[in-house]
Amino acid sequence: MKVLGIETSCDETGLALYDTEQGLLAHVLHSQVATHESYGGVVPEIASRDHIRKWVGLTRECAARADMKIKHIDAVAYTAGPGLAGALFSGAVAGRTLAWTLGIPAIGVHHMEAHLLAPMLEPESPDFPFICLLVSGGHTQLVRVDGLGQYLLLGDTLDDAAGEAFDKTAKMLGLGYPGGPRLAKAAESGDAQKFVFARPMTNRPGLDFSFSGLKTAAITAFNSAHRDSAVINDIAAGFQASVVETLCIKCRRALQQENLRNLVVAGGVASNTRLRAALQQTVDDVDGELFCPRLEFCTDNGAMIALAGALRLQAGESSNTEIVIRPRWPLSEMQPPQRASGASGMR
Ligand code: KG4
Ligand code: ZN
Repeated sequence: MKVLGIETSCDETGLALYDTEQGLLAHVLHSQVATHESYGGVVPEIASRDHIRKWVGLTRECAARADMKIKHIDAVAYTAGPGLAGALFSGAVAGRTLAWTLGIPAIGVHHMEAHLLAPMLEPESPDFPFICLLVSGGHTQLVRVDGLGQYLLLGDTLDDAAGEAFDKTAKMLGLGYPGGPRLAKAAESGDAQKFVFARPMTNRPGLDFSFSGLKTAAITAFNSAHRDSAVINDIAAGFQASVVETLCIKCRRALQQENLRNLVVAGGVASNTRLRAALQQTVDDVDGELFCPRLEFCTDNGAMIALAGALRLQAGESSNTEIVIRPRWPLSEMQPPQRASGASGMR
């Protein structure tokens, strides 16, 4: 089954073709970073319009790279949530319309489930069960994964997500948008020992996170320091070291608590090289194994949407013709694939 994946939940338009027999056939991505840069962050209305403008060209390009005709697609998977409402709608309408025209099924995918499954795009992919650290712009969660749609939330952020804390701290340090990669780059030239911040919520039991205080501590340090680029780099390094160590401590705790060895890290922050290296060390220490998607599949992309949709359709999940989006959609509400009942069909 060849599935076209469409990702439009935020500021990236991602298209991909995934074949359940052959794996990923092709993927293309258009980032809106340049479009939003002068605003210092994502402007939802502009994001939606840009998705609409780009998706036909990107779909054609994706099919050409896969050396395939669009009429040979067997199903469409699009991001139905969580994300920006208008941006989600643009992908949902595009995907459903294409599916209706071709007479094939369409399925709305949970964006975080897709992130969580993204390591399965790689040759070395994890077996269930595993612990997943989901770290993106809107989420910081530790999840026990027992199968497709079988998710037990072990820990969550009480305030800012890790990516959000990166973004807000970067903005206040004058590093601009997109904050995460820029702060990570600044940190590479800084000394993490100059500003040592607390590792929030690690000195008490539990698997929840809180990054809002860390963000404030970084800004307070910035406001009381002599503001030059060396200081900014040092604060960035200290901030990043705190986030990385905090995430590692909680991952280790989650593996021990659940008595599991396999750790998956996914979502935009998983592209942080310091975090990947530190998590590798963490799993090595407990004789475990780390699975991360390649860098381009950590941040938003169409490949993970095509894969998640393909896995659910392959498991017999039904699909209807309604264009439903869920801008807020807790991962804990996900269920294993639901098979079609009666004769209502898949479309
Ligand atoms: O998964 P993603 O592309 O979109 C969401 O689903 O949110 O994640 C985006 C988040 C942003 O907060 C971005 O700043 C962060 O991931 N990010 C990073 C890095 N690259 C992206 N954070 C830290 N270090 C990075 N290298
Ligand atoms: Zn994402």
